[in-house]
Amino acid sequence: MIMRMTRSAAGWAFALAAFIALAAAAAPAAAQPQGGDEAIALALRPGQEGPTISRHLFGQFAEHLGTGIYGGVWVGEESPIPNVRGIRSDVVAALRALRVPNVRWPGGCFADEYHWRDGIGPRAQRPTTLNPNWGGVTESNQFGTHEFFDFVDQIGSEAYVSLNLATGSPREAAEWLEYMTTPQPTRLGRERAANGRADPYRLLLLGLGNESWGCGGAMSADHYVEEMKSYARFARNFNPDQTGENAMRRIAVGPDGASTAYTEAVMQAWRDKVWSWDIEGISLHYYTTGGWPPSYDSARFGTREYAALIAETLNIDRLISTHAAIMDRHDPERRIGLYVDEWGVWLAPLPGTNPGFLQQQSTLRDAVIAALNLNIFARHAERVRGANIAQMVNVLQPMIFTDGPRMVLTPTYHLFRMYVPFQEARFVPLQLAAGTYRHGDLSLPRLDAIAARAADGALWLAVTNVDPERPASLSLNVEGMHLRSAAGEVLTAPRVDSHNSLDAPDAVRPRPIAARVDGTALRLDLPATSVAVLRLEAER
Ligand code: AHR
Repeated sequence: MIMRMTRSAAGWAFALAAFIALAAAAAPAAAQPQGGDEAIALALRPGQEGPTISRHLFGQFAEHLGTGIYGGVWVGEESPIPNVRGIRSDVVAALRALRVPNVRWPGGCFADEYHWRDGIGPRAQRPTTLNPNWGGVTESNQFGTHEFFDFVDQIGSEAYVSLNLATGSPREAAEWLEYMTTPQPTRLGRERAANGRADPYRLLLLGLGNESWGCGGAMSADHYVEEMKSYARFARNFNPDQTGENAMRRIAVGPDGASTAYTEAVMQAWRDKVWSWDIEGISLHYYTTGGWPPSYDSARFGTREYAALIAETLNIDRLISTHAAIMDRHDPERRIGLYVDEWGVWLAPLPGTNPGFLQQQSTLRDAVIAALNLNIFARHAERVRGANIAQMVNVLQPMIFTDGPRMVLTPTYHLFRMYVPFQEARFVPLQLAAGTYRHGDLSLPRLDAIAARAADGALWLAVTNVDPERPASLSLNVEGMHLRSAAGEVLTAPRVDSHNSLDAPDAVRPRPIAARVDGTALRLDLPATSVAVLRLEAER
């Protein structure tokens, strides 16, 4: 099965077919794909680079949900857990290595019941409020605006703040923006300074509501558009440093999965808009759940459930194409970006946990699914300008689990670290004879891959072997390049539900991998259920 990674010419398809035949003929017996089935061939065209893969595709999401913030990020200044101004240092150090481009906060559904004034000023005087969405627990408001920006700063990231468009008001939102961003000595500017921050904050991304079709008010698309325009108009960023490339991007609520009502309504409103309001993006939320409500046990996973999740994940490619086609109709110049600002694996809550805390085990399965999602976003880089995995710490598909003073990195964390070279790299078209992974009635591409040229000129390749039973042997050819080496890291483990724990923190971790140079081609042996990221070096 040939997967089309880009619009391609017939000549290119022919060249790939010839390459597959040559690769198969040249392959030493020991390098034949195990199982004796398809030859796997991959060819890159580095001369024909595509769009830049925005670093914002690798964004994160940190909601006031379960222990995502409290315990996971915020422990308080008095905590025996090492911290800087209340923010735990081990989590910060781990996240810094991911070069997290932006953090979306305070929700999610939480955002539409959040009132920013509850989270500023002396912490001892902040009110205790409720978090009805997520377990009905109390919210201490110890982590508010200043703590969020401090966290973002400590991990070297950018802020993505979601406004309360359901139970808030345009005035409340406008005042929050003024509080965060004005350099002037207004009442709100002075209040921010009195609370410890003289300079305006830098706010790069602004969400105009969250899931307004669901937990954010169950609004019709037309109703949402009428509400949203006021927020887009009055929630102004006054930071004088945020112009041009650094200007704040306003992200309207967009589609719920396949439903196109919001995409149509928001894009049409934008096309017909008057001068007084604008947006720079619309959002898309898509989770891999295995049905709703989620019922799969995240810690004990069979290959049937695994195959079903892979198939469901791959659907996002079609969804993005559907929404992008609507956007193309209204915005052929692609001024509006699509932001997949919630995505990831959402499975049944772990037994014995508060079901509202959305705690699940994070396994090799999740890293493979993350790779497939990121690859799809990169292929749609012309329209997809941002994405935020749900969520950052302890919730759904996190990077990190914390337990009191201890912390463990998930396979998804390692995957994100391996993909760092793709941030701001130029997409390089490739053609892959992907083979087939079959399970029951499902017939899926066995391999997936993306390639990109980093700013320093290095060529990077990421290849995923989805198949949980069969290793793959890959022949790689790079057009116009005589390759010297290809080496990097591979993430794999014995089972799709292999995971890390406090007792075995390195059960799933990346290990070195190198391809064998074979004339002008390279051969790479990929274990079953694995993701490899390699840097390709040319002969001088
Ligand atoms: O990520 C968990 C929840 O999923 C978010 O709060 C909400 O926006 C979505 O439904």
